[in-house]
Parts: sequence; C-alpha cells; structure tokens
Amino acid sequence: MEVVIVPDAHAMGALVAGFIAQLVAKRPNAVLGLATGSSPLPIYRDLERQLQDGSLSLAGCKAFLLDEYVGLTANHPQSYRATIGREVTERLDIPPDAVVGPDGSATDLLRACEAYENALMAAGGIDIQLLGIGVNGHVGFNEPTSSLASGTRVKTLSAQTRADNARFFESADEVPRHVMTQGIGTILRARHLVLVATGERKATAVAAAVEGPLSAFVPASALQLHPHATVVVDETAASQLQLAPYYRATYNAKPPWQGL
Ligand code: F6R
Repeated sequence: MEVVIVPDAHAMGALVAGFIAQLVAKRPNAVLGLATGSSPLPIYRDLERQLQDGSLSLAGCKAFLLDEYVGLTANHPQSYRATIGREVTERLDIPPDAVVGPDGSATDLLRACEAYENALMAAGGIDIQLLGIGVNGHVGFNEPTSSLASGTRVKTLSAQTRADNARFFESADEVPRHVMTQGIGTILRARHLVLVATGERKATAVAAAVEGPLSAFVPASALQLHPHATVVVDETAASQLQLAPYYRATYNAKPPWQGL
C-alpha cells in the first residue's frame, strides 16, 4: 500500500486527477470507478479544469458507480446516479450512457446486483477505483463486519452512516436504510484502488485501515490485500498515522504515479 500525505483537499484532488489523466493518456478507453460523497469532489473539479484547458478528454471512458441507495429513483436528486450526473457527467465529456450504476430502484434487487456484476465483468473490470472512507471504516457501503470476499449486494446502513449522510437530505428520516454496494471482493478486483480522505474526522478510520490489523470490522483495511492500493490523505486525516514520516520519505523518493 502506498500512503501519500498532501497538504489539503485541493492537493489531493490534483494528485488523484493526475493519476486518472496519466491512465487515460495511456488507455483512452479506461474504465473508471466513481465514488460519491464529499471526499472525491476535488478530484472531479480538477478533472473538469483539465478538460477545460484541453489537456484531458474522458470521451472514450466508461464509468461504474460504487454504490446506490435502495428505493430512490435515478432522478431523485440524492440518488448517486443523479449526484454523479451533476458532479461528473454534466461537467466532463464522459458520455452519460457510458456510466453504469447499481439499480437501487429495481423491483428484483438480487437480479440487479447480478446484472451490475455482469456489466462490470463485460467491461473488462475497473482500471482505477476511487474510494472514500466512512468514519466507521466502511468502504463503498460495506459497513463494519462486511465479508471481505463479498460481491455486489444489498446492505443495511449503520446508524452512524445514516447520520453522516443526513446532511444531503432535508431530514435525517429521509436517508434510505438500505443500499446496493460493490462488495469488498468486487472492489479488490479493480486494478488500482485509490482511497482518499480529508479532515480530522477521518483520522481514526484512516489509521485503522492503513496500520491496523486486516479486519472485517474495518472494511477499508481490505486494501491491505490489494497489490496496487494508494491512500491519499491530507495532513489532518493523516494525523493518527504512526508511520507518517516514513510515508513522506517514501513518496518523496518515488512519485506513486510512476507505477501506473
Ligand atoms: C460513496 C461511498 C462512501 C463514502 C464515505 C465517505 O460512494 O461509497 O463509502 O465514500 O461514506 O463519504 P464522504 O466522502 O462524504 O465523507
């Protein structure tokens, strides 16, 4: 695992958007794995900047959403499909029909999970998967005690996650109780995992995921099993990392994108 400590969210966005730009330069039809929530927004804004200055095009790319609320239709403003529409597809040149998400409004959710996994496989898998982390260590919506081998399935949100996501809804009661999420086994099949976190609130979860034991209780610790995982954190999210000086020294010696 490579841990990169950057000064702030803006620097995180620029660095990770740089990973994506390097990938797309080599593979214009790359398959991107997109996360929602606040953490990846600086990445999407930097991609937009690159598109505007003419240095990047995602027109040949496909994208897969990591997760989706169950019970919200795709046009509900807080569905992840609509959020990615606002934050990514309407602002970047990735064609809207090249974006696939789990269908949380399907009547047969089991079948919808299967269809999503099949679409992922048919696309040849994800080249770079963006991930945030929950304060409880979740990744995607794989809440604590999720199977480390899980596939895409329906999960029940924890009270912590529902409270954290209430800021996107008019009232806490409106936050759906269930989600469809890529499983940890699904996430681990992506060729490059990039987990980003900013802010003090994420410091405990980041330290547990990176330096704690591999445990279903901290689902993000599953990144320890992946041969190409990069964790990009700002100074505050890095504040509980015991080996921060080592990560800084390693990063300065070899920029992480050299491995892409
Ligand atoms: C979102 C997702 C979640 C978030 C996590 C952090 O698609 O899968 O795991 O990444 O809850 O959310 P933010 O970034 O809003 O703190």
